[in-house]
Amino acid sequence: MRRVSLRDLDRVLYPTIPVAVVAGYKGKVGAMLAAWWTQLSSDPPLIGVAIAPERYTYKLILRSRVYSINFLDAAHLDKTPYLGDASERFYPSKLAKSGLTISKGGVLGAPIIAEASAALETRLSNVVETGDHDMIVGEVASIYAIENFEGVWRLEKYKPLMYLGRTRRPAPVKRIYVVCRNFDVKELEYAPGDIKESAMKRSKVMETVEELLKKTPRSEWKQLKLQLEKLMGESSLEADDVEYYIDDARRRITK
Ligand SMILES: Cc1cc2nc3c(=O)[nH]c(=O)nc-3n(C[C@H](O)[C@H](O)[C@H](O)COP(=O)(O)O)c2cc1C
Repeated sequence: MRRVSLRDLDRVLYPTIPVAVVAGYKGKVGAMLAAWWTQLSSDPPLIGVAIAPERYTYKLILRSRVYSINFLDAAHLDKTPYLGDASERFYPSKLAKSGLTISKGGVLGAPIIAEASAALETRLSNVVETGDHDMIVGEVASIYAIENFEGVWRLEKYKPLMYLGRTRRPAPVKRIYVVCRNFDVKELEYAPGDIKESAMKRSKVMETVEELLKKTPRSEWKQLKLQLEKLMGESSLEADDVEYYIDDARRRITK
């Protein structure tokens, strides 16, 4: 490996699937592409999207506190400049101009892209100032997906839009997308070979900690530590690891 400049951080993290974030307020609908997003929690179901305050969509999200996160098939590549290069402030009705249409989510009434392959209706739960972007944290209230989604994506019918970054000025700026024609899908066994036993032990410890915490009043959790340390000692973990497992289980059982 060779050392790479810090300004290439996002380029090293790509490819990612950019999502279209859509929000509406008082008759205005805005949409933007965002490549910097991630699931933050499964319970509650939280998604974080890093959005710069300059984006018009940012303002709409903060005002309406309801928005959607949409996954587009690569067939919509030609719509990306409307969503990701044009700002609603300077290029009004960009969504309509892109040819994409809006429908309403069934739970929050959030504007969602009718042509999306999947869409998450989301309620704003937190805005964390991180740096030049804010982490917009939203709780997913409902999920929609095309027929073809069968618990996992069938990539013969869904070729997600994938982004590799953009070239730098002064040369004319190019946005680079991956065009995926054939995906060779390979299924790997979970925890194969000699990993299996350790994975089972790990699940067992997690389950046991969870069960014990459920049965024990919170005021007595501290006293469980010894018992758990013994259990985990057999797994050749460090004694203080138990605290992390208790904290992890606490988040799963207290809602
Ligand atoms: C592929 C792609 C990914 C992008 N990712 C982000 C992102 O994660 N966060 C962000 O704030 N802007 C991101 N942008 C830029 C916004 O989409 C862009 O500034 C857009 O014009 C904002 O529109 P608006 O002002 O109408 O909201 C991305 C653009 C593209 C093309």
